[in-house]
Amino acid sequence: MGRLIVISNRVSVPSAAGAAGAQGGLAVALNSALRQQGGIWFGWSGQETAEFTGHLDMQRNADVTTATIDLEPQDVEEYYNGYANRTLWPLFHYRIDLTEYDRNFGEGYERVNERFADAVFPLIESEDLVWVHDYHLLPLGSMLRARGIGNRMGLFLHTPWPPTRLLTSLPFHERLVASMLEYDVIGLQTTEWLESFLHYVQKEMGLKVNLDNSIEYNGRRVVARAFPIGIDYAEFQEAACGDVAREACQRLKASVRGRKILIGVDRLDYSKGLGERFESFSRFLADHPEMAGNAVLLQIAPPSRGDVASYQQIREDLERKTGHINGAHADVDFVPIRYVNRGYPRAELAGFYRAAEIGLVTPLRDGMNLVAKEYVAAQDPDDPGVLILSQFAGSALQLKDALLVNPHSVEHVAETIKRALDMPLAERKRRHARLLESVREQDVLHWLEQFVQVLANNERDAGMPPHDQAA
Ligand code: G6P
Repeated sequence: MGRLIVISNRVSVPSAAGAAGAQGGLAVALNSALRQQGGIWFGWSGQETAEFTGHLDMQRNADVTTATIDLEPQDVEEYYNGYANRTLWPLFHYRIDLTEYDRNFGEGYERVNERFADAVFPLIESEDLVWVHDYHLLPLGSMLRARGIGNRMGLFLHTPWPPTRLLTSLPFHERLVASMLEYDVIGLQTTEWLESFLHYVQKEMGLKVNLDNSIEYNGRRVVARAFPIGIDYAEFQEAACGDVAREACQRLKASVRGRKILIGVDRLDYSKGLGERFESFSRFLADHPEMAGNAVLLQIAPPSRGDVASYQQIREDLERKTGHINGAHADVDFVPIRYVNRGYPRAELAGFYRAAEIGLVTPLRDGMNLVAKEYVAAQDPDDPGVLILSQFAGSALQLKDALLVNPHSVEHVAETIKRALDMPLAERKRRHARLLESVREQDVLHWLEQFVQVLANNERDAGMPPHDQAA
């Protein structure tokens, strides 16, 4: 099998991955995947340059070579802050109220995708498997095809796929989706997003979808399938059992002096339902006066995409809300919400998860959510905490033994917090054992193998000739 050429907007240097604060599930998962398989990881350096040169900064770390380019300020504004994070991200998370439709964003998005295509093109050898990630780069495959790349190419979308009725609010939506059909494989996180995607191509584009969910397009078959992403279970377990995690666990426990701990860990993003979560915790404290002063919510929320107004707004809202709730429930020696705007190394996080009686993972909409899986993996199997998980996270389809909640219902979440704190040890152990099995078996390597296998064998799967080299 050829090398993997992984392409994503963000690239993180593998040796530094453990310490990164705000890196999302994508970077963590791709690090693990590439360490396993070897190959090149190409993307944006995160740096700006006055004038775009396309210069590739190549670095080798362990088995992974990273290749990055700098972008111009206008690129960053229109492509990253603009089309990716003001248009597609909110739209794909069902937030058309926050979605901005601006032609300059669309043009910048296409321009940067062309720049990515030009820069990565010389790195691709004939046997390589090309694997593109996420909403920043949906049309990249079609641009590589236009440059004569006939390799097997796959796309994996880490976010939800929105219902057709929402997607059609996007100008040129059909052009965007048609460009995606130049990939050989399109991977989504769950069957729910897959169904939405197939609904769109059938209803809006009039395409035929076969029983195996492959799509007939211009005489080719494009495989669309759900590949739920997992965590690097072995690595995370090792971290959770190490000294750093143990010390972090002890430090947190000592600081709360016997109080119950609820933990949330999320990028500071409106899709994560942090405001609703804080309200729910406040409701729980109000409904159970005996718990007032006896439970602490630790919310770790590293800031993200700070140049985008909706992120500035959510940050302000949360600061106000935290101040308000803490003002109402705090005492001279106690603050109910510890709201921390920074990231922590993964080993420390593992210790914090282990210290917490409840993992509170309540996004309003989430492609998968790996924090839920990390929380499960970090628990002591003999005395595990309880995972409270939003029914709107992709991971809820796998983690059915969590306490599933509707994050919009403050009452429901507040009641569920109480239920979790009262849950007998036998039930906690029973639920945790089943959750752990799912997290362990469907880990990131499983995800990698499944995707790469379909990507590499697609012609045989589909019974069709390989893609025309000059398509
Ligand atoms: C989500 C996205 C990723 C993204 C990450 C962090 O997980 O699916 O593509 O990299 O958030 O966001 P950022 O904008 O900081 O890259």
